[in-house]
Amino acid sequence: MSQSKTAPKKLFIKTYGCQMNVYDSERMVEALGGQGYVETQSPDDADMILLNTCHIREKAAEKVYSELGRYKHLKAERPDLKIGVAGCVAQAEGEEIIRRQPMVDLVVGPQSYHRLPEMEAKAGAGVKALDTDFPEEDKFEKLTSRPKAKRGPTAFLTVQEGCDKFCAFCVVPYTRGAEVSRPAGRVLSEARDLVERGVREITLLGQNVNAYHGHDKGLAGIIRDLAKIDGLERIRFTTSHPNDMDDALIAAHAEVEKLMPYLHLPVQAGSDKILKRMNRQHTAESYLKVVERLRAARPDLHLSGDFIVGFPEETEEDFQATLDLVEAVQYGSAFSFKYSERPGTPAAERPQVSEDEKDDRLQRLQALLGRQQRALQDAMVGREVGVLFEKPGRKPGQMGGKSDYLHAVHVAGEGLSVGDLRRVRIVESGANSLKGELL
Ligand code: SAH
Ligand code: SF4
Ligand code: F3S
Repeated sequence: MSQSKTAPKKLFIKTYGCQMNVYDSERMVEALGGQGYVETQSPDDADMILLNTCHIREKAAEKVYSELGRYKHLKAERPDLKIGVAGCVAQAEGEEIIRRQPMVDLVVGPQSYHRLPEMEAKAGAGVKALDTDFPEEDKFEKLTSRPKAKRGPTAFLTVQEGCDKFCAFCVVPYTRGAEVSRPAGRVLSEARDLVERGVREITLLGQNVNAYHGHDKGLAGIIRDLAKIDGLERIRFTTSHPNDMDDALIAAHAEVEKLMPYLHLPVQAGSDKILKRMNRQHTAESYLKVVERLRAARPDLHLSGDFIVGFPEETEEDFQATLDLVEAVQYGSAFSFKYSERPGTPAAERPQVSEDEKDDRLQRLQALLGRQQRALQDAMVGREVGVLFEKPGRKPGQMGGKSDYLHAVHVAGEGLSVGDLRRVRIVESGANSLKGELL
């Protein structure tokens, strides 16, 4: 057991990767609160440094090792300092991390966070702690939470984890394991608790969030139940797979007022040959059909996507099909990446596209996506939207928040408080944000 000291111990946690890691980091901070830790923003005065890592692309893992290198001098000065690696690199690399960086005390995979307090105690006794199991139990139920701390107006809530899709390029099915859904009752009680602590917008998270089956009516069912919670004003969810976009969820976009008109729906590529080799299990046309049905349900829906350029054997013609699909959809925002070879995934074995070609295609795709994003953002000028205010803006007297469509919006903030949800008229469109006036 760890000894209880009067002065709290300090935990520095650095988070990489997706929103699910952000949520996990919050839960780990809360769980280690029970061991007497409070969060600090600097590694320099920390008693424990925890990196919550991402393995999705090659550079992500290398970044972790170089970050660890930067803590070497701290560990040399203070041998009591504990250094831990969590997340998807921890899951994928396991013991290798301790071999490459022997100063690491603790390696914990994403499904074992509820064992973190024990592991911390073990590390405190000078024993290396490693846990990369995929245990049966629900880690979130076992992760103790701190007494009700006040929260900001927006929160993530993980409802589903893991992936059974096995896209040929992706490590997630290996690092996060099989698809698991949290029971609806637990999700709802966590949501109520968040609302009591000041949260007004919840984003439901899952690697394949629309494959959620913890409610007998699926993700649409839990969204409808969440919408009944007084004080919860906005609901979002991410990330969805096109094949799991069922009728009930599409209907929810038409009928549930609290469900925001923004959807992240990755497609990855526009060529059917490449989609097949990616093992995406859908075609460009079936994706476009889903988009069409969504827009029929919710005409003002803003779509966002993920794209990979330079997947093995992608030709210029294949890439052109991606550009065509992007033209057909008109995205409000998007994330695009050069294909990154991940050892152990099927695509890594295929003939690779040159780095120069990847660079060139990424540049062209991003130029097109950038133009679309800007055009849709500019089209907001003159419109009225809801804005949830999250923090003071950059200039004095300003407040910043997010529109229903997830645009960053700032307004002159006379009398506004963080957490206010107000109607705003958009008056100007800037490089990365909109300017609005309160109605
Ligand atoms: N579950 C989600 C997101 C998974 S990871 C989904 O299915 O869409 C987030 C994004 O990273 C993916 O959508 C993909 O665009 C990108 N990605 C995953 N593996 C990659 C790789 N090996 N190289 C480049 N990008 C990758
Ligand atoms: Fe990765 Fe595909 Fe699963 Fe998304 S659906 S997490 S891209 S394997
Ligand atoms: Fe990265 Fe793991 Fe998320 S690999 S994107 S942190 S699921």
